[in-house]
Amino acid sequence: MTLDNFNNDNLSRLLMSQGTELEELYRQAKQTKEQVVGNNVYYRGLIEYSNRCTKNCFYCGVRRGNKNVKRYTLTDDEVLEAALLAHRNNFGSLVLQSGERNDKIFVEKIAFLLSQIRNATHGELHVTLSLGEQTAETLKLWRRNGAHRYLLRIETSNRELYQKMHPNDSLHSFDKRLDALKLLQYCDYQTGTGVMIGLPFQTISHLADDLLFIRNHNIDMVGMGPYIEHEETHLYKYRHLLLPADERFELSMKMVALLRIIMPDINIAATTAMQTLHPKGREKALTVGANVIMPNLTPLKYREGYQLYANKPNLHEETESHLANLKVSIESAGCKVAIGEWGDPLHYFNRQQNIKKE
Ligand code: 5AD
Ligand code: SF4
Repeated sequence: MTLDNFNNDNLSRLLMSQGTELEELYRQAKQTKEQVVGNNVYYRGLIEYSNRCTKNCFYCGVRRGNKNVKRYTLTDDEVLEAALLAHRNNFGSLVLQSGERNDKIFVEKIAFLLSQIRNATHGELHVTLSLGEQTAETLKLWRRNGAHRYLLRIETSNRELYQKMHPNDSLHSFDKRLDALKLLQYCDYQTGTGVMIGLPFQTISHLADDLLFIRNHNIDMVGMGPYIEHEETHLYKYRHLLLPADERFELSMKMVALLRIIMPDINIAATTAMQTLHPKGREKALTVGANVIMPNLTPLKYREGYQLYANKPNLHEETESHLANLKVSIESAGCKVAIGEWGDPLHYFNRQQNIKKE
């Protein structure tokens, strides 16, 4: 396999590989991971803070227009309790995720929660935000209040496909999303993005371009996984166009493996969507390049409400017992849970060094 120069042609070809060529791809990805980032798995405790959202993405079960969803927002105490649970269990970091809102009450509430988390955990817990597109002013405020990282998936790097997946209005503009992603780097966040794999109308060439997009934009962290249909969304009518679940899963594995090879020093999440399509999906992703897992710390009574897609796992499992099982299965995948380490992406520091040299 030659990947000295990465282009759409050779990445597309590798995304279609089968048999011994596919085994060789996975072997090389595993080796790259072990050599560059090692076998540690970093935990990010996920708090699904609120399912209120101003957007109406055509793939997502909690979109604004879905009237069947009971809307919730965690109380301040519930957020703090989850943060303390992560701290007590020696997680390096926490992810605060919610639907997208830009109103002043929301912006100030997040700033308040960030400072509360920082105080309660003596600044020992790194915080990642995943709260959609925001202005520079908001991002700077949250950064000052202790947020270190930000995840904003581009969803697909192809403008036309992006437009097919979203309503045609200024709230769902591809250009705005791209600008919002660049703003994160400008505001000095460790920056994460990602895409969905196996969307209706998506081609192999689109996915190869997604990999190139992530590389060209110098991304530090990536979370990507298979698209999973949800009955109460616009895209459900196109479900006959989808690859079967096992093939969508395999395509996601190939994407993770190739990304590790072309960007050896980034953090890559083994996503819940991968676990949804395969019970051991996250462990499998760890063996081909992923090094981050996001255990769900959302209080159980709210989990029903955060169904972005159908059959999301761990709806009923208790957090502490879930963690014990997770550790065993991570070790069975030949990895080690990194306790008490932030697990910052090496790429972020390498990127900073390069900026200084320029
Ligand atoms: N299938 C898979 N992933 C989805 N997301 C939203 N809806 C779906 C779906 N139906 C992902 C999007 C979003 C993240 C929070 O969840 O990529 O950015
Ligand atoms: Fe809202 Fe995110 Fe779902 Fe889009 S994907 S509708 S922004 S929660």
